[in-house]
Amino acid sequence: MSAPSTEESVRTVRYGLIGAGHMAREHVRNLALIPGSQIVAVSDPEQSSLDKTRDQIGYGVESFTSHKELLEHATVDALVIASPNDTHMEILKDIFSSGRELAVLVEKPVCTTEKDAAELESLAASYPAPVWVAMEYRYMPPVQELIQAVHNGRLGRPVMLSITEHRFPFLEKVGDWNRFNERTGGTLVEKCCHFFDLMRLILQDEPTRIYASGGSDVNHLDEKYQGRTPDIIDNAFVIVDFQSGKRAMLDLSLFAEGSKFQERISIIGDEAKIECLIPVAASHWIEGDEHEAVVEFSPRSPLGPESHEVPVDEAVLAAGAHHGSTYYEHLGFRKAILGEGPVEVTIADGVQSVRMGLAAERSIAEGRPIELANAKAAVAG
Ligand SMILES: NC(=O)c1ccc[n+]([C@@H]2O[C@H](COP(=O)([O-])OP(=O)(O)OC[C@H]3O[C@@H](n4cnc5c(N)ncnc54)[C@H](O)[C@@H]3O)[C@@H](O)[C@H]2O)c1
Repeated sequence: MSAPSTEESVRTVRYGLIGAGHMAREHVRNLALIPGSQIVAVSDPEQSSLDKTRDQIGYGVESFTSHKELLEHATVDALVIASPNDTHMEILKDIFSSGRELAVLVEKPVCTTEKDAAELESLAASYPAPVWVAMEYRYMPPVQELIQAVHNGRLGRPVMLSITEHRFPFLEKVGDWNRFNERTGGTLVEKCCHFFDLMRLILQDEPTRIYASGGSDVNHLDEKYQGRTPDIIDNAFVIVDFQSGKRAMLDLSLFAEGSKFQERISIIGDEAKIECLIPVAASHWIEGDEHEAVVEFSPRSPLGPESHEVPVDEAVLAAGAHHGSTYYEHLGFRKAILGEGPVEVTIADGVQSVRMGLAAERSIAEGRPIELANAKAAVAG
């Protein structure tokens, strides 16, 4: 992957942001690194979010308190939706019925319920412009290396995939929308749709059965919102069976901020294993103790693993909390907007990752494995 480009004559893409909170500002910082990107409009019902994001943009933009007004009045080529999870569906429907053919990058999870997942698939099918779901973990440079190794056959036949995420608790959000399953879809949708997406992408396969055990054991237990304690889970183990017989698992803890490496992904094939360790973002770690990601390739024969660091450009790392991935995601989205590249993370991908998360949440609630009836989506990427 290349470092930020400095080429001069580039086409300008005019972006509108819908939602101007924490993640929107990560998009702002990353678009600032990509020549030819201009944010021209922002919408958010919350004035303090609008103010902070406009300050960060640093030049004049139109602002609106409703996405409908932005859709009606702003002159944009593309939209970035970074509002709370449960608002994505309504916003997408308004875009699809607006009569405008705007490219859309929609934050994950693309929706939060099975009903919306089904409706979204059929609505998106007739929308003529690119719609890209923001599954940016695919674009972390060490993850890219793993994906290439598997798809180029370096492991032989991939059989087992394991993803560990041990991290800090959920941050506070505007209006505390992330404290309840009804607004997020549940932790295994909200946070872990990324990991279910990676499982499908890496294994090039579809899930058939999901079993999960999890609970709300440590975080948020002493918090109250209008008299209610948060119901989101903070730890889980999830096991996923795939159509071809491959299997994957997720080990999630949101009370593990002492971990230097936030994610570990390992894939084992019949000839070799590959693994990566991804450090926690500098903003959540001890100042001056930053680490590079590490990839280790371990063949079964001859014995002797090869391990190396995967450096990421400093400006790209500093623009977000996702190990540089938002920048690379935007490079791909920009190509799709300009008609120079495909949509790499489709609505079908986004919806399937939500379905896997919902199935895992249901497995926990019902204490049984959940069969995935709709496991037919094609894996893009
Ligand atoms: N891709 C990732 O790794 C990643 C990381 C963090 C957050 N996210 C996603 O980004 C989205 C936003 O999360 P956040 O962390 O920025 O939350 P946030 O609470 O910081 O910001 C959300 C903003 O959306 C605004 N909003 C609410 N309803 C709106 C509407 N109808 N139209 C426009 N704006 C509206 C809120 O007022 C708030 O300012 C969520 O879907 C979240 O899951 C993705």
